[in-house]
Amino acid sequence: MNNNSVSVRDLSLSFGAVTVLETLNLDIKDGEFLVLLGSSGCGKSTLLNCIAGLLDVSDGQIFIKDRNVTWEEPKDRGIGMVFQSYALYPQMTVEGNLSFGLKVAKLPQAEIDKRVARAAEILQIQPLLKRKPSELSGGQRQRVAIGRALVRDVDVFLFDEPLSNLDAKLRSELRVEIKRLHQSLKNTMIYVTHDQIEALTLADRIAVMKSGVIQQLADPMTIYNMPENLFVAGFIGSPSMNFFRGEIKDRGGRKVVEINGVDFAMDAYPARGPLEAGRKVVLGVRPEHVKVDEPGAEIHDAVVDIEEPMGADNLLWLKLAGQTISVRIAGSRRYAPGKALQLSFDMSMASVFDAVTENRI
Ligand SMILES: Nc1ncnc2c1ncn2[C@@H]1O[C@H](COP(=O)(O)OP(=O)(O)OP(=O)(O)O)[C@@H](O)[C@H]1O
Ligand SMILES: [Mg+2]
Repeated sequence: MNNNSVSVRDLSLSFGAVTVLETLNLDIKDGEFLVLLGSSGCGKSTLLNCIAGLLDVSDGQIFIKDRNVTWEEPKDRGIGMVFQSYALYPQMTVEGNLSFGLKVAKLPQAEIDKRVARAAEILQIQPLLKRKPSELSGGQRQRVAIGRALVRDVDVFLFDEPLSNLDAKLRSELRVEIKRLHQSLKNTMIYVTHDQIEALTLADRIAVMKSGVIQQLADPMTIYNMPENLFVAGFIGSPSMNFFRGEIKDRGGRKVVEINGVDFAMDAYPARGPLEAGRKVVLGVRPEHVKVDEPGAEIHDAVVDIEEPMGADNLLWLKLAGQTISVRIAGSRRYAPGKALQLSFDMSMASVFDAVTENRI
């Protein structure tokens, strides 16, 4: 026994000659909110659909609550699924949509009423119960779609990009709703998205996927601050982490990364192992870890190219070591184009990757 809610063991899945997932392993803890994050076509939906039982796996096993469900029907797995396209029955009212599955399952009417009322309360859609889907906004429809999973009283919720059809404002509102839902229900949730903000804000842990392979599985702050490889580092963060190709050099016992003839001292970098001189590396620094006109270990002169005031933040674009970089400072600090300034890197927050393996060093 363990406290895993869902376990994926050596899962492989091919569509004909095309292998999408190969010996993938993933354990999701009881009550955990796990986000599968990756760009289009990386296999997120495929993995979710295997867990849901909508696809037959080519190899491997799936356990839900320690039960081997690999060959069980979707309806017997104790899961509720919410899709990107909400696919409500247009001729039925909201109430009809919520109760339909329960009627088919021949639950007693009193129990159906109780569950529908509870879901409607949690999702705040009581005033909409008598309406048809065509009389609802996109966000309201999506709430009903979530409600349909909710009434089933399942152990595990599976969400496949449930918010991607909504406009930005609704998306951020429903994001908060989903977080609140998880905080009150404490169910296990597996949530697929290609939106890094959704992933960072909702997840207990994020699995970053690329080409069917999990690149890193960790809590959002670890993913953001300690990316395991160049792909994860570049995928998370907006604007993207600044990357500099260079080489480690020894300057009288001190290690630096030399980039286009400019030295960046490595003293404060939390390296995992020895930094051998001559090693080709990629130095990654997030925009907010570039300090502007602050006393720092190492000062570099630069000139502001573009300023993008964003309200709370101010984004500067400038050239350093022959390369365009982005810098995030407080919105109240303004720098007009052409203004000279001094930059330093917070190396304790930097990431350094081997240029060949692209793994963190
Ligand atoms: N029925 C199918 N037959 C053949 N190939 C498929 C099939 N379904 C998916 N694929 C392929 O499998 C890969 C993974 O698809 P999947 O739908 O899991 O991606 P995804 O990560 O969910 O992408 P998106 O963000 O666009 O939804 C893609 O390359 C896709 O073209
Ligand atoms: Mg998908």
